[in-house]
This record gives sequence, structure tokens and C-alpha cells, in this order.
Amino acid sequence: MSETRSPRHFLDLSDAGADAIAAMINDAQDRKAARRDLPKGAADADARLAGRVLAMIFEKSSTRTRVSFDMAMRQLGGSAIVMEAGSMQLGRGESIADTARVLSRMVDAIMIRTDDHAKIEELAANASVPVINGLTDRSHPCQIVADLLTVIEHGKALPGLEVAWLGDGNNVLHSILEAAGLMKFNVRVGCPSGYEPEAEFVRMAEAGGARVDVTRDAVAAAKDADVIVTDTWVSMGQEHASAKLDAMQPFRVDAALMAQAKPDALFLHCLPAHVGDEVTQDVIEGPQSVVFDEAENRIHAQKSILRWAFGQL
Ligand code: CP
Ligand code: NVA
Repeated sequence: MSETRSPRHFLDLSDAGADAIAAMINDAQDRKAARRDLPKGAADADARLAGRVLAMIFEKSSTRTRVSFDMAMRQLGGSAIVMEAGSMQLGRGESIADTARVLSRMVDAIMIRTDDHAKIEELAANASVPVINGLTDRSHPCQIVADLLTVIEHGKALPGLEVAWLGDGNNVLHSILEAAGLMKFNVRVGCPSGYEPEAEFVRMAEAGGARVDVTRDAVAAAKDADVIVTDTWVSMGQEHASAKLDAMQPFRVDAALMAQAKPDALFLHCLPAHVGDEVTQDVIEGPQSVVFDEAENRIHAQKSILRWAFGQL
């Protein structure tokens, strides 16, 4: 008999909504604090996903997403199977729909990192277990749950927060914009012409009540910000086009740009970083940088995303 209840997919932050994201962040903080003295691979006392298995499919490279989901499942008492798409029948042309239906009979949830967002939509449409977006060319919602957790842990409230994004208008920025509309913070995007975020995400943020400014002036973007965020100028699957790298030069986050932000501003980067390109060594290694808290928080955020997908939050 086939599963009749609709699974809770997490393809983008709006699938969960503001209340669930707030619940995820609270849960992540509580669970992080409760297991402070446990070895990293030990299960949480309540092992809320005991017996559950997550299948992970990677069509692109990953360090943090791969390890944090695996560790999240271990800490919740479950386990994970990691598959490179190239070593699956998917890589030889088996359909996404069949892959979804087969995996749904075998595992309890699926996480996928892929290129075209339409692929994850097709996977979700054919899966009877939750599907989680581990990054597509369009968005990276799991990263942003970890980022919001990091910002809150460092004492900042989300409503009214001034977030400055410098550089490429990419998948990570799209999820920040989606989060801005849901959690009511403002985003100033400093980017070169032609590298803006998709208008749909700006509209989404504004429709939620966020203020979004897109400017060609890096200093104006960074001025009095609470949080400065950047990411690689060349995302996975993109060309290292010299015209793009030239256009990005004024948007490098260096000490002078950081100094435009509030004195207690945080520096975030989802990593991997390309030091010397989008950020200078002194900034990423400096006192305002919280990039390794942000990386660790991927585990704590994934756990709460998984718990939400399984209907526990
Ligand atoms: N930030 C992030 O998603 O890192 P990985 O590409 O290593 O998973
Ligand atoms: N924008 C980057 C994020 C990597 C985690 C990329 O898509 O490659």
C-alpha cells in the first residue's frame, strides 16, 4: 500500500514558514546546550530519530552539508547513507521519479544537493518521504537556518536586523532574502550590475515586510550593518569568468569595509572561503568572524530541520 499522508518537504524556507523556523532555532539551541558534554557521535538522551535512516544524494561537492547531516542523524539516534549521484543508477539515466519512489520504500527521508532546482521539485513530487534541499543553484535553505541560529547565539535579534550581503547574487543570498521576509529583517545587497539576486526573491522579502536595497556601492551596503555576509564569487557549476571576477573586486570584504558596519557587527560566510577574493584573511580570521560557529551550527540546525520534517516540531 502506498503512503497517503503528504510528507513534509523542505525545499525552501517558506515550506516551513516563520513559526517553524523560530521553533527550529529554539530547538537547536536547546539541544546544542543539552549535549555540550557528550562526545560528538553520541546520541542525544532522547534519540528522537532512533531507527530512522536519511539517504543523501550528492550531485555536487560538499564537506559541511555531508558531515553535518550524517552527524545530525547519529546524534538523533538514526543513521545516514551517503551516495554520489555519479555512482548511482541516477547517474546512468534512471529517472528522478523512479529514484524517489524506490528510496521512499527503503529510507525515511532524502536529502539532495543538485544543480537545477526543478530536479529537487521532481524528486519531492514523487517521494512519499520528506525531501530536504541540501543546496541547488537556486537556494540553500539549510545554510540559512544555521546562519540565523549563529546570529541569535551571538546576541542579535532577527526583527529589524540590518544584514549586508556583498558580492554575487547567488543561491545563499536567495535563501537569506526568503528568510528576511519570514523573520522580518532587512537586507542590503552590494553587488555589481548583472549579478543581482533573482527579482522573485527580492519581491518575496519585500512582500514579507523586509526592506531590500540593491546597490552598486559596497560602502553604502555595509554602512551600519549588524551582520556582513559574503560567499564565493564563483558557485559550483559556474565558470571562472574573468569579467565576473573583475566586476566583483570592489565587493571584497576587507577591514575597511568591515569598519563601515556597526562596531559589534558579525562576519558570516557559509564556507568554503576563497581568501583574498570575496574576503581578506584579516577579516575572516578576525574577532568579528563567526564562520566556524556557523559551520558547527550546521549540525544543530540540520537536527531541527530533520525533526520538523518528521513532524516533531
Ligand atoms: N556551506 C556548505 O554548504 O558547505 P559544503 O559545500 O561543504 O556542504
Ligand atoms: N554559493 C555556493 C555555496 C557553497 C556552499 C555554491 O553554490 O557553490
